[in-house]
Amino acid sequence: MLLPRPRGELSDLVVSGIRDPQSVAECGALPLPADALNDVDLQLSLWLLYELHYRSFDDADPAADWSPALLSVRRVLEEAFNDGVEDVSAKHVAPLIDVEPDDFPDRLFELVETFPGPSLAEYVQRRADRDQVREMLLHRSVYHLKEADPHSFAIPRLTGAAKAGLVELQYDEYGDGVADRVHQDLFARALRAAGLDAEYGSYADVVPAEVLAISNVMSLYGLHRARRAAAMGHLAAFEASSSVPCRRYAAGIRRVGLGDEVAQYFDEHVEADAVHEQLAVRRICGALIAEDPRLQRDVAVGAVACLALDARAAAPLLEAWKHDRHLVLPPTETAHLDRAVPAS
Ligand SMILES: [Fe+2]
Ligand SMILES: [Fe+2]
Repeated sequence: MLLPRPRGELSDLVVSGIRDPQSVAECGALPLPADALNDVDLQLSLWLLYELHYRSFDDADPAADWSPALLSVRRVLEEAFNDGVEDVSAKHVAPLIDVEPDDFPDRLFELVETFPGPSLAEYVQRRADRDQVREMLLHRSVYHLKEADPHSFAIPRLTGAAKAGLVELQYDEYGDGVADRVHQDLFARALRAAGLDAEYGSYADVVPAEVLAISNVMSLYGLHRARRAAAMGHLAAFEASSSVPCRRYAAGIRRVGLGDEVAQYFDEHVEADAVHEQLAVRRICGALIAEDPRLQRDVAVGAVACLALDARAAAPLLEAWKHDRHLVLPPTETAHLDRAVPAS
């Protein structure tokens, strides 16, 4: 993957810095926005800096991931981002903290059921047209092409039952040892079958800030050992909010005629995530909290962040669709390079 085009002053600086970390060391104060969650320039900058720890970029300096200058930029951006995440999550966290550890799993399932926000999956199932379904896939590609990777960073940071549970879950995400069952690759096949670009990261420079934030929060928690409980709380909420919506997405995909090859990724998750949610909520988070009750708060924070950021991304997309607009124009079936321009 090549570095994407910048989307503002900050990401311009970060793109230059990833090519040549020395250029960042020499720059002055960062141009920080007032609202980190909604600012696409900041979200793309964070995404770029986090991607150095995943697959990186063909045109990056090979040592950019451990450049002190880039790490200090990342630290400033992620502090602003984390403050924004805490702000939008704060009011939902209390029910998961003011609860006995044994009751935590049931309370988390209740929160997932009742979390406020529009249902993108229900709209896709019943009302979305073909291009809207394709746009949903395009948005989700930013995370699903690296599905499971952010949470894998937590494996060496856990012990005992929580570690065993996470490895069991991730083994399934990575295809149970069968290359073409890896969930990331199932999603890539769905994108191709829908006429979209399946190259990793190819839509990062066109999706809204809210979509990048969904991916960035997982990296934020995954890359900091101190946030391992938030990473597992996030995973638990992610898995617990997946099975039923995936059934709806699969139905919507077939309703608009996109077919089995696109639906297969979602079919797979109807069953898989019904198992994963039990594993993540009861075994992984349950074990973590039992081992160290002080971690319950951050498990709760991570779980709520997952649900809150998901809801924040769904709302503007549904609003655009209701007015017959797209947040990102869907690519044509044939012109991938001309694929996506921000809607005016
Ligand atoms: Fe998966
Ligand atoms: Fe899963």
